Amino acid sequence: MAILVKENGRLFQLQTRDSSYQMYADEKGVLLHTYYGKRIEAENLSDLIFRADVGFSGYPPEADGDRTYSLDCLPQELPSSGVGDYRQDCIRVRHEDGSRAADFRFAGYKILQGSLKIPGMPSLYDTDKERGQTLVIALKEKASDLVVYLYYGVFEEENVITRSLRVENCGKTDIVLEQCLSLCLDFQFGDYDLMTFCGRHAMERRPERNRIGSTKLEIGSVRGTSSHQYNPAVIVCNPDASEDFGDCYGLCFVYSGNFTASAQQDQRGQTRVVMGINPRQFSWILKEGETFWAPQVILGYSDCGFTKLSRQYHRILREHMCRGKYKSKKRPVLINNWEATYFDFDGEKILNIAREAAKLGIEMLVLDDGWFGRRDDDNSGLGDWYVNEKKLEGSLEELSGKIHDMGMKFGLWFEPEMISEDSDLYREHPDWALQIPGREPNRGRNQLVLDMSRKEVRDYLFERISGILGSVEIDYVKWDVNRSLCDMYSHALEKERMGEIYHRVMLGIYDLLERIVSGFPEILLEGCSGGGGRFDAAMLYYSPQIWCSDNTDAVNRLDIQYGTSFFYPVSSMGAHVSAVPNHQTGRTTSFATRGHVALSGSFGYELDLGRISEEEKELVKRQIAEFNRYYSLTHEGDYYRLEPPGGRFNAWEFVDAGKNHALETLVMTSAEGNPLPVHTTVKGLDPRKDYRCLYNGQVRSGSTWMNAGLTLDQVPGEYESVLIEWEAVEK
Ligand code: DGJ
Repeated sequence: MAILVKENGRLFQLQTRDSSYQMYADEKGVLLHTYYGKRIEAENLSDLIFRADVGFSGYPPEADGDRTYSLDCLPQELPSSGVGDYRQDCIRVRHEDGSRAADFRFAGYKILQGSLKIPGMPSLYDTDKERGQTLVIALKEKASDLVVYLYYGVFEEENVITRSLRVENCGKTDIVLEQCLSLCLDFQFGDYDLMTFCGRHAMERRPERNRIGSTKLEIGSVRGTSSHQYNPAVIVCNPDASEDFGDCYGLCFVYSGNFTASAQQDQRGQTRVVMGINPRQFSWILKEGETFWAPQVILGYSDCGFTKLSRQYHRILREHMCRGKYKSKKRPVLINNWEATYFDFDGEKILNIAREAAKLGIEMLVLDDGWFGRRDDDNSGLGDWYVNEKKLEGSLEELSGKIHDMGMKFGLWFEPEMISEDSDLYREHPDWALQIPGREPNRGRNQLVLDMSRKEVRDYLFERISGILGSVEIDYVKWDVNRSLCDMYSHALEKERMGEIYHRVMLGIYDLLERIVSGFPEILLEGCSGGGGRFDAAMLYYSPQIWCSDNTDAVNRLDIQYGTSFFYPVSSMGAHVSAVPNHQTGRTTSFATRGHVALSGSFGYELDLGRISEEEKELVKRQIAEFNRYYSLTHEGDYYRLEPPGGRFNAWEFVDAGKNHALETLVMTSAEGNPLPVHTTVKGLDPRKDYRCLYNGQVRSGSTWMNAGLTLDQVPGEYESVLIEWEAVEK
């Protein structure tokens, strides 16, 4: 059983294959968090809580004068606010009388069959209805009629627990939610590091590691997207944790908008970590009978380092978050015209790219920005989703038809959530853009943001997009977002509710995405936000791949894909071979290296094939053959980070489930005179099996390859790379 309930329905233990999570509703009704870590028996651990009379940490009335019982010190599932827990709180409310206090007490529990589907928002799903169970714990606010339902899901085999919550106003008076975080995770003992994944446009998700102390560590976004700057997934780990050692806890937020994640030690050295919707610019009115859902957090635990933690996330996201045909079907190798032409194309140019691509075995042409409205640069046209037949020198049907006649699939770019001021849509509906009356709005890439909270806006977009997808043979859609949100004001919302706008916009985006993916289940969707500005678990619910970064430089991609791999599977990372000198960095790397790096992703090309040499064309054919050969390894296999970026070389590896086939990619990132040898060991082989290394033909046992390793017979030059393959052989 994955959910154990004991002690008259007051002790709850969630069991996965290797982990346990325990909560206890004590005699005062406070839901204590008593354990999360390696799998244990379900024995009440509330006695591990050290109780003392801590100065200036008061006690609630139920403590009956017991000065050792303080909400300010107890590890809790849903910390109170305004009534004596001075640490980070989860839920902040404003009552009708203006007071701000929320103090929740246990009011019962239920076990539901199956995994939880949060209305209007993505969440992990279980394919086997019999298997999944959801524990719901009800907590009632002491002095009002507010009830919180905590939802815990257990994915036993994947070592994953989910948590989300619902707040319900069961009273008659309005309540304003001023903050509603999804998760609080308290650690009573030990020191921890917090790993975050930070960056900027074109340099996303670079790991940063800090010791959690009394100074609060906090990341988040108020950009309306999960952001390039901070990814909504963090790791809490032992200070000495490494790839293969130490306790690691992952918190991965299933949400694509504003978020916060913070960690801090309290006065007694206990660590509190929280995650949820960012309270900045947030408030939500709950009228009588209304509810608010906080998005899901996916909790993962590994008793032996980051590799196992990552593998669990890769598996759960691939199998229980991604949906649709391309969840398991092989993705087509694509060529995107963006870096080949930018806005400067016509029908013939696109067909030429397609002709060259088809000859080399590329399977899909993606027509990027600029095919619609009046859009020859980024000043105009967004919102006018009408085909520019003059530019395409014919209809979209004709273009798609010609491309399909070449034996290729056809994909199309959209940026549905945005609007250009120079567009017919804006001229007709200026109030559809988010902007504050009387305040000149900020622009980002010359564009404004559509008010996706409005149904009529979504209906217009659905009608336009589905009109095109329904009448033209389109196999793929790239869904882009190219600015951060601000100037939040909806012309369709009462002024008291303006604090709801960020979340309402996000719910609107999910609604439109859902309508598109369910209306066109055959289409492969690729998410994008100027590359990786909305690379999060929630987007994987709609798009099994996301353009990883606008930076296509193979060497920078080592960092970006490395950081992304801590939570997100390789199958989700859009990665292309582009031209050199690279358009973002000016760096020149070999065609082979660009291919090797992009092979560890959802593979494609983004360059003018008319400008590459015959030799490079042969390499394209070889790379496609390699992509197909290694597809099940890279897209379904186990992933190992062998050598992190920053050293002389960077290396990573894939191993198939049966441990019969492994592939290592090694990229030199520096060159030196009189070079030292390059020696590498692999991971994840079966120590008892024999393997042939295709690099040198040598057969050795798995344990030898994993422990003694391999020395390359030549040191590759700067930015050169090698693929090294191992195959199990009969003894
Ligand atoms: C940003 C994307 O990341 C690029 O790949 C490209 O689609 C441009 N937008 C188009 O405007």
